[in-house]
Amino acid sequence: MYITLDGVSRQYDSVWAVDRVTMGIGKSEFVSLLGPSGSGKTTLLRIIAGLEKPTTGRVLIDGEDVTDLPPHRRGVAMVFQEFLLFPHRTVFENLAFPLRMLKLPAAEITERVAWVVGILSLGGLEKRYPNQLSGGQQQRVALGRGLVGRPKALLLDEPLANLDRELRQEMEVEIRRHQSALGIPFIYVTHNQEEALSMSDRIAVVRKGRIEDFAARTDIYDRPKTAFIAQFVGRSNRFEGTVGAGGRSVATRCGTTLALPAPLDPARAVQLFIKNEKLRLAPADGTDASHGANRLACTVKDVILRGAYADYILAFGDRELNASRPRSERAFLSGEAVIAHLNPEDIDLYDTDGERPS
Ligand SMILES: Nc1ncnc2c1ncn2[C@@H]1O[C@H](COP(=O)(O)OP(=O)(O)OP(=O)(O)O)[C@@H](O)[C@H]1O
Ligand SMILES: [Mg+2]
Repeated sequence: MYITLDGVSRQYDSVWAVDRVTMGIGKSEFVSLLGPSGSGKTTLLRIIAGLEKPTTGRVLIDGEDVTDLPPHRRGVAMVFQEFLLFPHRTVFENLAFPLRMLKLPAAEITERVAWVVGILSLGGLEKRYPNQLSGGQQQRVALGRGLVGRPKALLLDEPLANLDRELRQEMEVEIRRHQSALGIPFIYVTHNQEEALSMSDRIAVVRKGRIEDFAARTDIYDRPKTAFIAQFVGRSNRFEGTVGAGGRSVATRCGTTLALPAPLDPARAVQLFIKNEKLRLAPADGTDASHGANRLACTVKDVILRGAYADYILAFGDRELNASRPRSERAFLSGEAVIAHLNPEDIDLYDTDGERPS
């Protein structure tokens, strides 16, 4: 592993902001640290950068123990949410700044800035000031300032949080492309699951200073290891209930019975999640020929159009269910009666403590 965190913790007063984190990041990996506000993501990143000293544990970069090295001796660069460009310096001078700090010769500075201007498509903007740039261009300059020192790794702390959705999605593609081309690890902090899912090879889900799971993005999304991850990643419907006498179904608190994909101990308390896009809809007029378990009679309360998808809010008894369906499928209208199919194989199931039942 190129970057290793070995039992890293950080205590502030009585709070463990980072709590016994051990993880390894590969030489050309894009890794996201994904977690809610206050979970310890920034602290973890600052520990890798050397801006924060861990209370316990070690940080290794490229085989070297850097725990006691200051930031500028670690060869990693960090990009922040507030890009912190110097307002009274040109793009060129903003990009040259880290190199001037290193006291590099002028010719080398010119050459390296030109390299970064080239890869980030900033050509022609070198003489402008930050307030003469678009949000995306400012973001690229910030990224360029991270890359200009040719770091061994780039650490990014919510760099797209201030951009609108469309620009953010463009920048996601761009950042991912730069990471692949440069072949250095990017460690990307975000609380936004879409960002983490769009760019990462692997995602570390951070919760209360600990790594809840560290796995391929598809595993995080498709096979969430804990109820916390099922709740935090993707959008889903949650049911609570108790396993029935035969062990093959769950009597839910909302008064329905759901068939399980595999038998469980009877009388066990469980929670079930089903992603919105896994809930299939059929008309309730009897023309639907499909059958199978877990057919819930609902009424459409609201339809929200999201371009290629329609989000349905369904009334089911006295609770709501959420379904997300492609617009290419039959559309349903507010007030229409529908059957929501919930395939047992699509259920993610956890104990009440949030772990998968053994
Ligand atoms: N300098 C500090 N002094 C005291 N407590 C701190 C300090 N920095 C962070 N904390 C606490 O450590 C915990 C983790 O903070 P951190 O900034 O790492 O979270 P985060 O996951 O980056 O959150 P956000 O998504 O809001 O940026 C929080 O409880 C925070 O209040
Ligand atoms: Mg933070």
